[in-house]
Amino acid sequence: MKLKDVYPLYLNNKAVQPNTDLAVTDKYTGEVAFRTALATPDVIDEAIAGAVRAAEPMARLASYEKQDVLNHCVGRFRERFDELAYALCVEAGKPINDAEGEVGRLIDTFRIAAEEATRNYGEVQPLDVSARAKGYMGMWKRVPIGPCSFISPFNFPLNLAAHKIAPAIAIGCPFVMKPASLTPLGAIIMGEVLAECDILPEGAFSILPATRAGADLFTTDERLKLLSFTGSPGVGWDLKAKAGKKKVVLELGGNAAVVVDKDADLDHALARIIFGAFYQSGQSCIGVQRIIIHADIYDKFRDMLVAKTRTLVAGDPKQRDTFIGPMISEKEATRLDNWIQAAVAGGAKLLVGGKRDGAMLQATLLENVDRSADAYREEAFGPLAILSSFTDWDAALAEVNDSKFGLQAGLFTRDIHKVLEAWDHLDVGGVVVNDVSSYRVDNMPYGGVKDSGLGREGIRFAMEDMSEIRNLVIRRI
Ligand code: SIN
Repeated sequence: MKLKDVYPLYLNNKAVQPNTDLAVTDKYTGEVAFRTALATPDVIDEAIAGAVRAAEPMARLASYEKQDVLNHCVGRFRERFDELAYALCVEAGKPINDAEGEVGRLIDTFRIAAEEATRNYGEVQPLDVSARAKGYMGMWKRVPIGPCSFISPFNFPLNLAAHKIAPAIAIGCPFVMKPASLTPLGAIIMGEVLAECDILPEGAFSILPATRAGADLFTTDERLKLLSFTGSPGVGWDLKAKAGKKKVVLELGGNAAVVVDKDADLDHALARIIFGAFYQSGQSCIGVQRIIIHADIYDKFRDMLVAKTRTLVAGDPKQRDTFIGPMISEKEATRLDNWIQAAVAGGAKLLVGGKRDGAMLQATLLENVDRSADAYREEAFGPLAILSSFTDWDAALAEVNDSKFGLQAGLFTRDIHKVLEAWDHLDVGGVVVNDVSSYRVDNMPYGGVKDSGLGREGIRFAMEDMSEIRNLVIRRI
């Protein structure tokens, strides 16, 4: 498999190559793998103008036409499966098995959107709730919100871009997208596939790699009616402060916890937690960062986790047996390495891992971590998990909630009463039972509370954000 040397950007549905200013590296070798065009503020302005012009024709597309576009994408992504997976492997350093998993999810996401495109239902509402409204009836429908601005992250360059693009098409919103500069290729290939769809009006989409400094218009331009950002909490909340009157959806980070009760199936919990903590080097917003284990099984389960972690194969993400590839950059690996060293200096015990070579950081487990440590409080976004023990279920739930974040939590227990209590009291966007916080199916409502964000993705839920309710009142005379 080979990638091209140069890729364009997509401006108002068309490939253009104003320059080759963005060099994208292979995250394992560090060498330049390909170059893409970089959008200047003028180009972004032109794309927004195109999206404004496209808003009405997009809103007029019939459901079956939007479904056809999405189904075309499903078919083309299936045909280009290997190329898409290889692109992720190179530009994100994602181990090839995980990369293929993400392409599978990309296809799911577009497939779900193709179905949802024909289900934009409204409601008929009796208004005769009092004498003054006798003879009135109401009905409401959802109309597209208009031109949208999307900013997508490096950790799932395909599927997290898809979670914005696919619902936008399904509901009928034109959009401008800025993919992560470190991993723009996934979104560019999606642009190539969308450009094959003549039914989309000119301006329906623009995919614009851009530097953060040159991309202010994605946030500040008042012609855009919604900003949907996935990325780090610091950046996300700053963007919201600059977004003016537009609606803002933020999918941000977390330091997710799982609780392992004493009745859990430990072999199952082990396999899932190792996956949830360390797959794609822990670079998932819902990756397992805190493992809270019942005291009666703590020693046994800790030893199982340590032994399994030692067996994880690290190295070249293009090799089939690699489980741990590089982090996205040496800078990020150094940042997390420093947190690990600081936690150990503060009294934590290093159980396994803790060594770094460039962007490669070993899968690492710590115990006895002080709760004020960055490794506990902040989002690790790397291959680190922290063990602690509990004796009382309510105390375990309080520990899960002891975080400024709240995306998802995992529970390993057979006790339905404990599950229901957790569902009531965990301050998170989702609770996963007998699996890890990192588990996600692409049609479920996905998003966080507290510093983890605002709004929900998951096609149908994103379509709600990308639309407004328009009401109709009729008086029978
Ligand atoms: C994320 O990192 O925010 C998304 C995780 C996922 O989709 O699995």
